[in-house]
Amino acid sequence: MKQQLSKFIHSLLILSIGCAISFSAVAAEGTNTILGTKHDFTGLNKRAGVTAMSGVAFSDYGTSCVYCHIPPEQEGADSTPFGGIEGWNRFTPATEHSYDLYNSRTLENKVHTPSPISLLCLSCHDGTMGVDMTVFRPNGWRSSEDAAMHLRINGNNNMMNCAKCHNGRIAHNIAIKHIGTDLTNDHPISMRYAGLSDKDLDFNLPDGPYGFNNGVKLYDERVECASCHNVHNPDIEVLLRDRADRLCETCHIK
Ligand code: HEC
Ligand code: HEC
Ligand code: HEC
Ligand code: HEC
Ligand code: HEC
Repeated sequence: MKQQLSKFIHSLLILSIGCAISFSAVAAEGTNTILGTKHDFTGLNKRAGVTAMSGVAFSDYGTSCVYCHIPPEQEGADSTPFGGIEGWNRFTPATEHSYDLYNSRTLENKVHTPSPISLLCLSCHDGTMGVDMTVFRPNGWRSSEDAAMHLRINGNNNMMNCAKCHNGRIAHNIAIKHIGTDLTNDHPISMRYAGLSDKDLDFNLPDGPYGFNNGVKLYDERVECASCHNVHNPDIEVLLRDRADRLCETCHIK
């Protein structure tokens, strides 16, 4: 198991999510903290005490990591020939080129398509694909026994969506987690960080190539969903990298 895990981490290294920060520290922190959070699909059923969730609403692959990461058995595998998002175990949303991204007259760096690390999040949170729609399944998972309906994070109340139950009556309302494909009301993503040089008086210089000392990150010099959110750390509400009142001023000066 230990060997497997280090192989897994190694494969993550090779796949390189685009950053080379102090790896062991992140790995140690990143390995277990997802367990028990909302992204721990293997644990949800047990915690919530709902038998209808995993197995019916979504497939339980028995390991929480594979809903995002390439399984360790497929070390080094490339998901893109199968329609996957580069470096991740999820399919590229069909909406890849049709997201309405934030735009405004004053926005300096306009973007048309989210980067892979943000497509990862959108592949669940835009509500167009089942949360269990992974490219690779772990070894030993028997697809012949798959009875799941592969429901989506989507507030529409019908048999395709988690909101069948998650409507605020049977279970908590999931609609607020459904970001959709219209991102024009959300913070812009996948644009080059405007504060990379000290020429821009509206933005702080990052503390290093990977972002800021409070944990706010840049990916390839860009702002992504994971710049503000850390799915591996549930310490701050809604998985933020810093408290909401301090988050914005990490980057914005005024
Ligand atoms: C909801 C999606 C998701 C799940 C589930 C998930 N991860 Fe991650 N993981 C990410 C993202 C996004 C990053 C990059 C985050 C960053 O740069 O801080 C990451 C980064 C990592 C890293 C560090 C790699 C690096 O370059 O920083 C390790 C190690 C890791 N995950 C292990 C795991 C393990 C082990 C599990 C299962 C217990 C798991 N992850 C479950 C999304 C996920
Ligand atoms: C495999 C599907 C999946 C992926 C990929 C995924 N999420 Fe989630 N996320 C979920 C589910 C399911 C929930 C819980 C929904 C609920 O509670 O109603 C959730 C909840 C959240 C929450 C709210 C947490 C809370 O405590 O209320 C945040 C923030 C979030 N996700 C951000 C992200 C970010 C950022 C990424 C990409 C790095 C990401 N998610 C990738 C499925 C996913
Ligand atoms: C058959 C009804 C049903 C379906 C379908 C269903 N859930 Fe649930 N879920 C529940 C109930 C009941 C709870 C417990 C009460 C609550 O947390 O609101 C729950 C709890 C949860 C929790 C909170 C668990 C925790 O401990 O934090 C998450 C996250 C979740 N469900 C995600 C999902 C996702 C994602 C889907 C669709 C893939 C889904 N559920 C489909 C009934 C359902
Ligand atoms: C600039 C920082 C920032 C970026 C970039 C960002 N978020 Fe958030 N996100 C926040 C903050 C702050 C909150 C909590 C306040 C709110 O609900 O608006 C939040 C809330 C959320 C929630 C929880 C909604 C709720 O209230 O339960 C989800 C899910 C989420 N974000 C997903 C994403 C995804 C997916 C992306 C990329 C497409 C993204 N975020 C990009 C800062 C950010
Ligand atoms: C990781 C750095 C970062 C963080 C953290 C951050 N922002 Fe931003 N924000 C940016 C960048 C970069 C832009 C785009 C600037 C440009 O290219 O013109 C931007 C753009 C915006 C815009 C649009 C401005 C325009 O010209 O249209 C608003 C509004 C905004 N941010 C609000 C927030 C709020 C509120 C928070 C805290 C929840 C926040 N930002 C956190 C980096 C960040």
